[in-house]
Amino acid sequence: AGPPPPQDLAGRALVVSAGGTREPLDPVRFLGNRSSGRQGCAIAAEAARRGARTVVVAANVDAHVLAGLEPEGVRVIPVGTALELGEAVRGEAAQADAVIMTAAVADYRPATVSASKIKKRGMSRSPDCGATPARRVIELVENPDVLTGLVADPPRRGLLVVGFAAETGDAAGDVLAHGAAKARRKGADLLAVNAVGARTGFGDVPNSVVVLDSDGREVVRAAGSKAEVARTLVDLVARVLDARVQDS
Ligand code: CTP
Repeated sequence: AGPPPPQDLAGRALVVSAGGTREPLDPVRFLGNRSSGRQGCAIAAEAARRGARTVVVAANVDAHVLAGLEPEGVRVIPVGTALELGEAVRGEAAQADAVIMTAAVADYRPATVSASKIKKRGMSRSPDCGATPARRVIELVENPDVLTGLVADPPRRGLLVVGFAAETGDAAGDVLAHGAAKARRKGADLLAVNAVGARTGFGDVPNSVVVLDSDGREVVRAAGSKAEVARTLVDLVARVLDARVQDS
């Protein structure tokens, strides 16, 4: 073990959302995503080690990922859907100094949730689905944007709001261009942008993030393991919170 971590978050309360929401279609199926919750849990563990009272709002995070939080004294609130996550985050944020939204929140949910298992309909006669496989349509409705809601209507004065954006480059622009546009659109104090592709970002692989301010300007870069990225981000959060106290 190295030297004890600085207690630069002593007396602070942090909320971290982690994992990926699941939006039910019926009792056995859902629309979900591949977010593991590892980055959020690494941030929460680091914040707790540095003295913050820390709670993780965990959307479908595996028990073995959550296991790392218990020794650090992090409280865990398990949630399933985007609506549940939003309610838990807002509730906790009312007593917090900062909210870090690492969770991958579903932008849409199925418009209706069937009380019983949805049956396969219109089975084609040929076992290989025939030349034209049958199609089904799932209607979706928009979920509230939790992050934007925290910015527009903060549950506590002076709340520091940090977002995460997983981006891929495409014809419309590179990862950073998309990230900067999102930073301005979302208006969070800080937005950590990370490039995701087939082999980066999600899962147990090294990360690389660029943190932007609400004008889309670069504040800091972090790369390495999720623990290293967590350290850099927690450093930044501690610095920004300290600066706010001095300002007020
Ligand atoms: N987020 C949120 N509520 C939502 C969707 C996203 O709070 N309904 C938060 C995420 O936790 C993350 C940030 O917003 O901190 C960015 O999420 P992302 O999915 O990249 O943003 P979107 O607005 O959904 O952008 P895109 O058009 O790229 O899907």
